[in-house]
Amino acid sequence: MTPELLAGIFASEFAAMAGESAKRKRRFTVALSGGSTPAILYSLIGDNYTKSVSWEYVHFFWGDERCVPPESSESNYGMARDTLLHKIDIPPANLHRIRGEDDPAGEAERYSGEIVNNTLSRNGLPEFDLVILGLGEDGHTASIFPGNNSLLVSGSVCAVAVHPLSHQKRITITGKVINNSDHICFLVTGKKKAEIVKEIINKEAGALNYPASGIVSEYGDLTWFLDQDAAAFL
Ligand code: 6PG
Repeated sequence: MTPELLAGIFASEFAAMAGESAKRKRRFTVALSGGSTPAILYSLIGDNYTKSVSWEYVHFFWGDERCVPPESSESNYGMARDTLLHKIDIPPANLHRIRGEDDPAGEAERYSGEIVNNTLSRNGLPEFDLVILGLGEDGHTASIFPGNNSLLVSGSVCAVAVHPLSHQKRITITGKVINNSDHICFLVTGKKKAEIVKEIINKEAGALNYPASGIVSEYGDLTWFLDQDAAAFL
């Protein structure tokens, strides 16, 4: 399975989920991720589903954002805008971006409120319909990095995180919020991820150090979308 085929399968599942919500005239709340694999997916949805998805019911949020302005090539919002958002007819009010250009602590607080005010709630935490995640080679997901596992159990909705190597500040949703959603999907491609994917999926002892191991669906389902290379050791 190539990354493109994988993205195609995911895109049709996305459209089906969005269709279910639209049928019931319900919002479909989705937290997007950054990363190279999600970028392939967004392009594909932007190219093939412009007309068949009722975009007025779709609300996009971001699971994490780099603290840079939206024009930066590192902006996760910018990536989604360039690959998908400019191709679809979605009301601007349905785009809930993290303001990477603002003060990180203040923005983490503001964005927590924006999520709470625009999603359903379960057990006192926001409930996204779908959270799309990538997986870093160090086992991070969203912007929850190794050594920062407290963000998996934090009671906050959002937090400021720091990339361990570049020291770039990030804003991320926390593990409990991810685990509270209806559908969690990891989208992972490439040989470099094969070892870590195997360790996490097989629940090997060392994998506990990878934040992605702490992502467990509490109320819905968690699906791994892997290309042939990422699945090579399974
Ligand atoms: C980010 C992400 C992050 C990403 C992984 C995988 O903004 O950095 O949201 O969690 O998804 O690092 O990225 P790649 O697919 O580029 O390896």
